[in-house]
Amino acid sequence: MMHAETIELEEGTRVELWARGPGAIRALIDGVVVWQVPALSEHPGYYKYHHREACAVTFEWDEPESILWVYSWEPGRVEDCGITVWEFGATGITRRTGTEIDAWMRADTKRPGLHFSPIRQWMNDPNGLCRIGETWHLFYQFHPSGTDWGPMHWGHAVSTDLFHWTHMPVFLHPEQNCWQLGATGGAFSGNAFRDRDGAQMFFYTERLPAYDLFSGYREIQKLARPGRGLVTAESITTVLETRPDGVEHDFRDPKVWWDAVRGEYRMILGASLDGDPAVLLYGSENLLDWRYLGPLYRAPARFRGEGARAVECPDFFEIDGKWVLVMGFVGHTDPVSGRHNLLYALVGDFRDDRFVPDNDALQLLDFGTDFYAMQSCAADGRQIAFAWLFNWEDRKPPGSPYSGEMSLPRELSLDASGRLCMAPAREFEALARERGEVRDGAAALPDAPFDLVLTGGLEGARITATQAGGTSFEVGVTDGVLWVRLPQDDGRIRYDARIAPEADLRVVHDRGIIEIFADGGAVCGTRRNYKHTSPDALTVTTNGRATISHPEA
Ligand code: FRU
Repeated sequence: MMHAETIELEEGTRVELWARGPGAIRALIDGVVVWQVPALSEHPGYYKYHHREACAVTFEWDEPESILWVYSWEPGRVEDCGITVWEFGATGITRRTGTEIDAWMRADTKRPGLHFSPIRQWMNDPNGLCRIGETWHLFYQFHPSGTDWGPMHWGHAVSTDLFHWTHMPVFLHPEQNCWQLGATGGAFSGNAFRDRDGAQMFFYTERLPAYDLFSGYREIQKLARPGRGLVTAESITTVLETRPDGVEHDFRDPKVWWDAVRGEYRMILGASLDGDPAVLLYGSENLLDWRYLGPLYRAPARFRGEGARAVECPDFFEIDGKWVLVMGFVGHTDPVSGRHNLLYALVGDFRDDRFVPDNDALQLLDFGTDFYAMQSCAADGRQIAFAWLFNWEDRKPPGSPYSGEMSLPRELSLDASGRLCMAPAREFEALARERGEVRDGAAALPDAPFDLVLTGGLEGARITATQAGGTSFEVGVTDGVLWVRLPQDDGRIRYDARIAPEADLRVVHDRGIIEIFADGGAVCGTRRNYKHTSPDALTVTTNGRATISHPEA
C-alpha cells in the first residue's frame, strides 16, 4: 500500500535515509517526481535527497518498515539546531527536532537520563572527541540501519556541558556499500587532531569490506578533514596502507599528536605483533606520509595464551609530565576473575620514541568490565574521557530503539602513587541537587539517577538497591575487596577489586548503569544492568557516612 504526506521544506534541506526493500520511496513537487528509489534493494542502502527551493514536497513510500533511519538538516541551522528526525509510519511522517527528540528519548523508561545514547540504532566506541571553542564534539561508532553492530559510520553529537547533547548528521560513511557486498567493515574508530595551524582533522581506520570478524581483513588509516562546523567530512585521504612485518590484520584505531621535542608528528595504532597484543608507533613530517618507528608496547606472552588477539583503541596522553598508555585487550579472558576484554593503563615516560613504564604491572581500569574503548582528549586544561558501556556479555532486550551508551564524562588524573584515577567530570557536580544523609533502613528512591557517596571506613559496607522487593544490584566491601553483583550473575565471572580500608566510594546509578568510583578514582567498576533498571528502594549499611543526591540533566 502506498502512503503519502506533503510537507514544507526549507531551501537547501538535506534528507538522509537508510532503507531496504521491499518497496519504493519517492519525492514529488507539484505532482512531478523529483527524486526516487523505484525499487529498494534487499540490502540496506544509503540515500539522500537535496531540496533546492523552499516549497511543499510530497513523499510517497510503500512499507514503513523498509525505512530504517531518516533525518533532515539545513546547512545554515544545523550547528545550532541539529538534525530533525523523521519517522515514516503507516499514517504519515512524524518529524521531531531538538527538544522533541529529547522528550521522545526521555519517554523511554529504560533509557538512562544522564548518559549519552544514540536516538536510534547501534552505537559503540566514542570517537573524535574534541572541544572547539565552547563546543564539545562527541563522535561515535554507529550502524544506522540496525540495533546490532554492522557497517560502521561515525555518528556525531555536540554539547557545551557534556550532558545536554544536540544530535548531528552522520559524519563518516564506509568507503563502500558493505551491506550490498554482504560484508562488514567501514569507518572504524579514530581520534581528533588539530595541527599547528589550528586545522581540525580526524584520523581513523577503514576496515575494507570483510567477510570474517576475526581474521583475514584489511585495515588502512585515513585522514578526514571536516567542512564548516564539523558537520560533514569534506575530504578523505588514505595515509597508511602497509602493515609492518609481523602484523597480520589488526591494525587500527589511530591516535595522533605533535611531538614538540622531535619536531614531528607521532601516531599510535592498536595491533597484534607476531600474535601478541601491541601498540605500534609511527612518525610523520606532514601527516600524510607515515613511517614505522617500532612497537611502543608489546603485551607479555601470557596475554596471547589467555586469548588476547590485539590491542584496540590505544590512548596515549600526558598528565603532569607523565605519559599514560591505555589499551583494550580484545579476546582476553583473565583466568582468575573470568572477566574479558579488559582495559589497562600504564604510566611512565616517553622519551626518544620509547615508552618506559614506571611499573610493568598493568593497572586494570575497570573491574566491572562494561567500560571499553575509552577515548580521552586534552581540552579546557583537563583530560576528559568517555567509554562505551558494553562488554558483549549482555545486551539490551529486543524492542529497544537503540543499543549502546557512553559512560559519564570523566576527568583523568594521577594520584600520588602514580595510578590513573577517574572521576565524573566537574560538570556532573553542577547537575546535583541537594545532598542528603542516607539513614539506616530502606529509603524510597525516586525514578531518577542517584549519586551515592560513602566515606569513613568501608569494610563491611553494603549497598542494596531493590525494585518491588527484588534485588536490582548490590555493591559491598568484604575483607578489603570491593564487589558489585547483579541478581542475574551466575558466579562464572567475579566483578571485584582490592581497595584500601579507608578508601572512599561513590556509586552513580542511572536506569541500570552502575558506575563505581573508589579510592580517589583509582579503582573503578562499571556494570550495565539491562534487567533491573528502576530500583525503588535503597538500603545502605556502613560504619561511616553515606550521602545521596539526585542529579538531573
Ligand atoms: C572496539 C572496536 C575498535 C574498532 C571498532 C569497530 O570496540 O573493535 O577496535 O575500531 O570497535 O566498530
